[in-house]
Amino acid sequence: MELANLQELLNSALKDISEAKNSDDINNIRNAYLSKKSALMSMFSLLGKMDPEQRKEAGKEINDVKVAISEKLEEKQKDILAKELEEKLNKEKIDISLPGRDFSLGGKNPFHIIIDEMTDIFLGMGFEVCNGPEVETDNYNFELLNIPRDHPARDMQDTFYIDENTLLRTHTSPVQARTMERKGGKPIKMIAPGKTYRRDDDDATHSHQFAQIEGLVIDKDINIGHLKATLELFARKMFGEGREIRLRSSFFPFTEPSVEVDISCMNCGGKGCSMCKGTGWIEILGGGMVHPNVLKMNGYDPDKYSGFAFGIGIERVAMLRYGIDDIRKFYTNDVRFLHQFKKKI
Ligand code: DAH
Repeated sequence: MELANLQELLNSALKDISEAKNSDDINNIRNAYLSKKSALMSMFSLLGKMDPEQRKEAGKEINDVKVAISEKLEEKQKDILAKELEEKLNKEKIDISLPGRDFSLGGKNPFHIIIDEMTDIFLGMGFEVCNGPEVETDNYNFELLNIPRDHPARDMQDTFYIDENTLLRTHTSPVQARTMERKGGKPIKMIAPGKTYRRDDDDATHSHQFAQIEGLVIDKDINIGHLKATLELFARKMFGEGREIRLRSSFFPFTEPSVEVDISCMNCGGKGCSMCKGTGWIEILGGGMVHPNVLKMNGYDPDKYSGFAFGIGIERVAMLRYGIDDIRKFYTNDVRFLHQFKKKI
């Protein structure tokens, strides 16, 4: 290959480039003129045989041609790519008339919906939310709540034992003792929602696993009026403004006096119906004034402090609220049941 052909080669490349129509043409031209084996590139090998003066000049000439071809080729390639993209976009249209693919979101279990609702009501009254373990010690679950080992009240709360001193908690009341210990004699206003366990035979109203919300308020000059007002407000927020509550005397080892709390039936308004078994009242929780022994055992001076406490069965509230007839439905995960509580979005 002679150097004299350089101009001819450039002309022919520029002509080919100007006639290129697509990316394939561009690739072919690049191969023909700029690949290692191309005529232009092989001219570089002639340089070695030249004397230095000549070599410098010839090298520059060959390189100028190479740069000129490369630049033109690149310019043309850009034009072609833009054109090809435009053609492609014109051809491909998205059919927005197709319906989108349906996707389904999960929903909250009614059990959690009701816990959130109950918690919100108490947060609104200034309660804080506390927690305790579900695997509990005999000491917190019984002893510190004034239920010693030989107390007959233990018979009502048989549970699952891990060993002699460790058990699945039978109620959320141990969180009372734990919170008193943690607060070290300072005022308390807390609720503690959570799971509880008992060795019950499962039926429509009993489940070996269930849940409660515990409440505990300790301060100076707390009296049973505070308990009543708090629970009345709760009942009205939960079951409607017209609800009345009544306190009946009862017994719990950790409260004195102890009460069962009934609300006026939300079905018949208190006249008597099948839901309230003709009485006009429905029992929803237990409570009372914190027993002086419990205050003392947990580091509070009963001469200075008093308090009230209560325990509400969560499923029971949900069953009354939603008209659910079987407690086991909360735990069997039947989607036909769960779907009814799914929020529409
Ligand atoms: N722990 C009791 C139970 O499970 C419920 C209860 C009653 C809790 C009275 C209290 C209370 O805090 O004061 O049966």
